[in-house]
Amino acid sequence: MNICIIGTGYVGSVTAACLAELGHGVLCIDVDAEKVDRVNAGIPPIHEAGLEELFQKHIGKRLRAVADYTPLADSDISFICVGTPSAKDGEIDLSAIKAASRDIGTSLRKEDRQRHSSSENYHVIAVKSTVVPETARNVMVPIIEKYSQKKAGRDFGIVVNPEFLREGRAVHDFTNPDRIVIGELDKRSGEVVAQLYEGFGCPLIRTDLKTAEMIKYASNAFLATKISFANDIGNICKELGIDTYDVMHAVGLDRRISPSFLRAGAGFGGSCFPKDVQALIHKAEELGYRPKLLRSVMDVNEGQPKRIVRMLERKLGGLAGMKIAILGLAFKNDTDDVRESRAIPVIKMLTDKGAKVFAYDPAANENMHSVFPNIRYHSSAKDALKDADACLVMTEWDEFKKLDGEFKVMKNRIVIDGRKVITPRKDIDYEGLCW
Ligand code: UDX
Repeated sequence: MNICIIGTGYVGSVTAACLAELGHGVLCIDVDAEKVDRVNAGIPPIHEAGLEELFQKHIGKRLRAVADYTPLADSDISFICVGTPSAKDGEIDLSAIKAASRDIGTSLRKEDRQRHSSSENYHVIAVKSTVVPETARNVMVPIIEKYSQKKAGRDFGIVVNPEFLREGRAVHDFTNPDRIVIGELDKRSGEVVAQLYEGFGCPLIRTDLKTAEMIKYASNAFLATKISFANDIGNICKELGIDTYDVMHAVGLDRRISPSFLRAGAGFGGSCFPKDVQALIHKAEELGYRPKLLRSVMDVNEGQPKRIVRMLERKLGGLAGMKIAILGLAFKNDTDDVRESRAIPVIKMLTDKGAKVFAYDPAANENMHSVFPNIRYHSSAKDALKDADACLVMTEWDEFKKLDGEFKVMKNRIVIDGRKVITPRKDIDYEGLCW
């Protein structure tokens, strides 16, 4: 098939590369000409394991990029993969979705090909961006119909086909999904997109538009709930001198629960969980329901960085003038992404209290510099630890598991571990956040 991908972030570029690998002709459309040039040079716009190889293999053959929407109408499917960040008070920001809907509508209007309403000539829009329930039907369809002067379900189709990709593992997750979800306006749209996923060998759910939108939010909200549950239990265990990891390991052996997403610590960050849970809370309250559990999931998560700083203050007596090393800035290991990283509220509290922050992350120094330009960044853990009064570990990088003698360069060897990655040693004053 001929496929357009709108938006070349981690979802768009991974979807593009993996569909090209499946043998489809893929055209990335991005209004950012620089991103278009990078894609056409075979350079993925983001770092994802396995992505560069796929770009190198398919660029100029099955995969290319353009900066305008003209060719879209001649494709079979266009995937919308633009961002849906948080607006004020957690509401979803649909500006990129609305802009893409306008551009798609305009492109469909211009197409001069006589389009029949038969499935082989039936352009289908597939929404991969995470949008709150009722967005596809009530926001996107009216805009596309207005700008195309065409009718959804007759002249073009629309489905919601959410992604379940983890940053850093997105190529793996695309090719090994637990399930495919297709919410369809009409059966014909669903058939066209379902063809793409033949042979994936996992359950394929065919449903309606808003159910598919809700499946995505409920999935992310539940994963975030598991993490906050582990942290609530962890905070109780901490007061009892119990290692939460011993508890949650045994809890996770219950096949109804599963061991994943039960790692207690500094909490969840990233471009998805915080914004998606907030957007679902906002949507619920717009509908007149107060989602008490989801609000608590966010409260627990926002409390973890505060607990780390309070633990540090108890150990040091005060923070003004203290030199604090922060090991780990990315929101999780194996990425350079600092969006909603739990290190951000920690650094903010430390600097507000007059501490001097010395940071190190194997990949995220540069990205965090744009958030906090006035703290010191180092190129190794040892350099960041030099003469430090204390150290906070905020990201579960594998290399931190190997730290040993490096702590000897600290002035005070106080180490508060927010991710259970440091091996306690006799010569350091080690404190675990929930263990
Ligand atoms: C998540 C979902 O996993 C993915 O399915 C969805 O499509 C996008 O959002 P991602 O945000 O890339 O993926 O990261 P993930 O690996 O899920 O981790 C999210 C955050 O939770 C990280 O900050 C991580 O450190 C934290 N986390 C994860 C925990 O604190 N404990 C855990 O047990 C697991």
